Amino acid sequence: MLNYTLITGASSGIGLEMSRYCASKGMNILMASLPGEDLEPKAQDVAEKYNVKTDFFECNLTDVSEIDRMKDWVESKGYGVNFLINNAGFGGTIEFGDMSGGLIDNMIDLNIKATTHMMNRFVPSLKQSSPSYILNVSSLISNQVAPYKALYTATKTFVRNLSVSLAYELKDDGISVSVLLPGATPTNKVVTDQIDKGNFAARASVMSAEEVAKIAIDKTLKGVITITTGAKNGVIRRLLASLPGKTVASIAINQYKKQNN
Ligand SMILES: NC(=O)c1ccc[n+]([C@@H]2O[C@H](COP(=O)([O-])OP(=O)(O)OC[C@H]3O[C@@H](n4cnc5c(N)ncnc54)[C@H](OP(=O)(O)O)[C@@H]3O)[C@@H](O)[C@H]2O)c1
Repeated sequence: MLNYTLITGASSGIGLEMSRYCASKGMNILMASLPGEDLEPKAQDVAEKYNVKTDFFECNLTDVSEIDRMKDWVESKGYGVNFLINNAGFGGTIEFGDMSGGLIDNMIDLNIKATTHMMNRFVPSLKQSSPSYILNVSSLISNQVAPYKALYTATKTFVRNLSVSLAYELKDDGISVSVLLPGATPTNKVVTDQIDKGNFAARASVMSAEEVAKIAIDKTLKGVITITTGAKNGVIRRLLASLPGKTVASIAINQYKKQNN
């Protein structure tokens, strides 16, 4: 059985760069994202450029039945999965009371539920193909006080905690679990606006999606459990953890006001 790296949110941003970097290391790639984002030509491009096998699966991961459909598709094609990257997710800065019910559900369904169900469905295949890897994408601001990003940071804290516990639980099955804590990465308009209009805190952790992808994959393959992207972001992570919540909150509030004035 030929093994593949399965990457969610592979049509753009960090996920697309991870697809390219993994392919450059000779891995075959299964790229997943929402329908209508030209995933087919992107998968073909990766295959041709890096001389690997690729395939693609379009689905809305907020619908758990689509995850079952993806698993059935992988099995029906006879693909093995020895690397699962749960990258699809989204955030944004918004007053909590202004979030619609739909936005709340989407964030929880994609960031938390899809990541959890993806791991649950693909653990058997990962065990079968071991040694294998899971990389979940959390955030540098997970575990932090984050006004105006309250739900986002809560979802990413969930991803981080689940990943670290599973890293120990799945070790004996030959599955290495890592969690990535990226800082600000200029991918979509939401993030570039935050970086452009924000204060020093918004810009301090900035790194390109290409650099984030390379560090993330290299450290995952080395078995690092909690991955910070570079020395600078390691310092920011330790600083955030050491400052009183009140101080971190006032930096975030100041950032929000600067962005929205
Ligand atoms: N960028 C940052 O500053 C930053 C910082 C910390 C953490 N992160 C995390 O890093 C990850 C990637 O972020 P990014 O900035 O690279 O995002 P991005 O450029 O907006 O890409 C998001 C990807 O997820 C896919 N996606 C979105 N909703 C989906 C759904 N319901 N079902 C299936 N796929 C869906 C998108 O597919 P379509 O293209 O088809 O819409 C796209 O491929 C996210 O988990 C994010 O929370 C990002």
